[in-house]
Amino acid sequence: MKRIGFMTGGGDCAGINAFLAACLKRGSEGYGAEFVGIRRAFEGACADRIEDFLVPLGPADAVGLENKPSTILESSRFNPFSEANRAKGYPEKLVANLKKVGIDAVLATGGNDTIKSTKGLTELGIPAIAAPKSIDNDVSGTDTMLGFKTAVTFGASAFRSTVESARTHRRISLVEIMGREAGWLSLEIGLAGGADIILIPEKPVDLARLCGRVAALNERQGYVNIAVAEGTRIRLDDPVLVAAAEATPVVAAMLKEDLGKDEHGNPKLGGIAQILRRIIRHRLGLKKLEDVRATDLGFTLRGLPPVADDIILGLRFGFAAVDLLFAGEAGFMVGLQGTRIVKVPFAEALVQKKVDWSETDLKNAGVVW
Ligand code: F6P
Repeated sequence: MKRIGFMTGGGDCAGINAFLAACLKRGSEGYGAEFVGIRRAFEGACADRIEDFLVPLGPADAVGLENKPSTILESSRFNPFSEANRAKGYPEKLVANLKKVGIDAVLATGGNDTIKSTKGLTELGIPAIAAPKSIDNDVSGTDTMLGFKTAVTFGASAFRSTVESARTHRRISLVEIMGREAGWLSLEIGLAGGADIILIPEKPVDLARLCGRVAALNERQGYVNIAVAEGTRIRLDDPVLVAAAEATPVVAAMLKEDLGKDEHGNPKLGGIAQILRRIIRHRLGLKKLEDVRATDLGFTLRGLPPVADDIILGLRFGFAAVDLLFAGEAGFMVGLQGTRIVKVPFAEALVQKKVDWSETDLKNAGVVW
């Protein structure tokens, strides 16, 4: 095995470049390997001219790479294995393209969707290893993944700033935080950032209870700080929602808006804090909409330079992935369990990871449902 291709798919985050840096160093020095990055992950690998997406990489490119933000190889959510793309022959094109440019094996960083595509690649006979990354922290088989610690660190500091401002202006403040299926990011940012209330997808919200808690806190301290995961669920027939939608046409319109799905069938989200803002104002009978402010941390947590934990994790994943590949092993994800880097079967990694704290722990942290 000589020529290894890199792919960095899905949402960008911190720590991906540290993984690339470690692979480049270990692979070139230890095994004389040649590396090539494939820009835009599976989209580039399936392009008519894959050559246009190739970036030759050597040990010199590793210098200073580990603490660069996002990914130097760009990203996409292209899915060669969707039903539509299977019918168009993309899986076959993918393999033919890789063979055409002499790529013998693939190292990929990704979340659930990219890991699934990497599994598909392995099944087509291309040796591949995945390393988990996601600010949502929602890949199974690993204690944590690239990007999460960095997103929590910066997110908590941004959240603290909204807490101070809400106190100063005596306001109710909602901060929307990514997390489609899993609420880890809201939970940890909220806890570290000083939230009074945290809302997560795992615990669908009873709006009367939420508004009751907001009103009580507002009465007692004069301000309230709420961390809300973008994937937080509210029941469409919740009477508090129905009443707010009747009184506020914009709520009704927002509820009807269909943001569509991505290539992997995941719903595109965003806007829950704006909806909750109006519901809380209506239920509490507040005069002005400005009494409840909404901030969306959104993509501010994705293109960040990595904190030390993510650099270390990226480097450890990279060293291990290259050693395993050259030991003739492929077809799994590398993960961190306890203090050890381990091999995780794809099927185990692909089980959706959710917040699993006890209800007592969640209540103590401020989670409301
Ligand atoms: O990577 C997962 C995620 O962070 C989700 O929380 C979010 O819904 C999604 O990315 C949105 O990313 P994009 O708009 O880049 O597809």
